[in-house]
Amino acid sequence: MKQQRGQFGSHLGVLMAIIGSAVGFGNIWRFPYLVGENGGGAFLLLYLGITLVIGLPLMLSEFIIGKTAKSNCVGSFKKLKPKSKWHFIGYISIITGFAILGFYSVIGGWTIFFLVDSITGAATTSTELSSQNFDTFINSAWKPAAISLGFVLTVAAIVLRGVEKGIEKTNKILMPFLAIILVALAINSLTLDGAKQGLTFLFNPDFSAITFNTFLDALGQVFFTLSIGMGVIITYSSYVKNEYNMLKTQLIIITSDTVIALIAGIVIFPAVFTFGLNPSEGPTLAFVVLPTLFAQMSGGAILASLFFLMLFIAAITSAISILEMITAFMVEQYKISRRKAIIFPTIIIATLAVLSALSQSDKYTIEVMGLNFFDFLDALSANYLMTIAALLTIVFVGWKMDKSTVRNAFTSNGKYYTMLFPFIRFMIRYVVPLAIAVIMLSKLNII
Ligand code: TRP
Repeated sequence: MKQQRGQFGSHLGVLMAIIGSAVGFGNIWRFPYLVGENGGGAFLLLYLGITLVIGLPLMLSEFIIGKTAKSNCVGSFKKLKPKSKWHFIGYISIITGFAILGFYSVIGGWTIFFLVDSITGAATTSTELSSQNFDTFINSAWKPAAISLGFVLTVAAIVLRGVEKGIEKTNKILMPFLAIILVALAINSLTLDGAKQGLTFLFNPDFSAITFNTFLDALGQVFFTLSIGMGVIITYSSYVKNEYNMLKTQLIIITSDTVIALIAGIVIFPAVFTFGLNPSEGPTLAFVVLPTLFAQMSGGAILASLFFLMLFIAAITSAISILEMITAFMVEQYKISRRKAIIFPTIIIATLAVLSALSQSDKYTIEVMGLNFFDFLDALSANYLMTIAALLTIVFVGWKMDKSTVRNAFTSNGKYYTMLFPFIRFMIRYVVPLAIAVIMLSKLNII
C-alpha cells in the first residue's frame, strides 16, 4: 500500500513550521552579539544585504527542490536526477542532522532544567547561586544527560504524530507564544537604566568595523540562522501545497527570523549594560549572564521563567524540524511506518546526546580530534557539513535541474514574479556558489 504523504494544512502552518525551524539559539545568543561587536547598524545593513542576496537564493533553491520533487532530502534528488550521484547530498544532510541534534538536545535539556529552576526561584535567588548554578549542573554529568534524553523523547513524540497533527500544530501554538514572550521581555528591558547604552551598542553604525572577516561572520550567520544546507527546508517545502507564492512566503520567513533576532538583542543588551556586565556570546550569555541579571531585577523569577520558556520553544521547534527530515527519509526510502521509522534515529540521537552531555562535565573525558564531543558535533556540522551541502544543493539547482522546471517552481507555473526569474537564476548559478566557496576556503585557512 502506498503511504499517503503528509501535508501542511494551511499557509500559516507552513510559515510557523519553517520559522520555528529557523528561530533557534542562533537568533537569541549569536546574532545580537555579532551585531553589537561588529559595528552595530553597519553590520546590520551588511547582514540584511547578505540575507537578501545570498540567503534568499539558497533557501529558494531548497524550496524549489522540495516543492518540485515532493520527497525527502535523499529521494528528492533521486527523483529529479535519477541514475546520478546527487542524492549523496541528502546523506550528508542526514549525518549533519544527527550531529546537530546530538548537541542541540543537550542545550534543549539545559533550557528545561533552568526553566524548572526559575519557576521554583532557585535559579535567581542570589547572584552567586546563578553563576555557580550552571557549573554545578553541567558537572553533575548524569543529570544533564537524563534531561536531554527527556528532550529527545519529547521531540520524537511530537514528530511521531505526523506533519499536520504533530509538527504544524505544535509550531502554530508555540511560535506565537515565543513572539509574545519576546516582546514582553523587550518592553521590560527598555524600561531599564541601561536601555540607551544597550541600544547604542546594538544599532549605532560604525562602518570602520566592517572588514573581510566581518563579512564572513555575517555570511556564516545568515547560513546558520536560516537552517540552510541541511535538507530541512527541502523536507518541509515538500509538504507545501503548490499554489503558494514562493517568494512571498520566503520573504515573510526571512523577515520574521531577522526581526526576532533583533528583538532578542533589545531584550539582552539593555539588561547587560544596566548591571555593568560584559556582553558575551554563546551559552554563557543565556545560562550565566542572564540569570545573574534576573537575580538583580524585581520580578526576576518571572522574567527568568519566561526567558527559559522562550529558549525551550526556540530549541524544540528547531529540533522537531531536524528529526522530521531524518524520519521522512526513513519512511520513504525504506517504506516503513512512521512509528518504526522514528525508533532508529531516536536511539542514535539519544546516544549522541548522552555522550555530548557527559563530555561537558569534568568527570568524563570524551574527545574527538582534540575537542570535547559536544564541541566536535557543533564544529563538524556548522563549519563543514552544512556548508558543503548548501554549495552542492545550489549548484544542483543552478546547473543540473532543467531551467523550465526551476522556473515553474519559482513562478508557480508562470503566476508570480516571472520578471524576477532571470535575476534569481543568475544569483543561483554564479554569485551564491562563489560566495559559499569563499567562506569554505577561508574557514580552511586557504585564503
Ligand atoms: N537555525 C537554527 C538557529 O538559528 C540552527 C540550525 C541550523 C538549525 N541548522 C538547522 C535548526 C537545521 C534546525 C534545522 O539556531
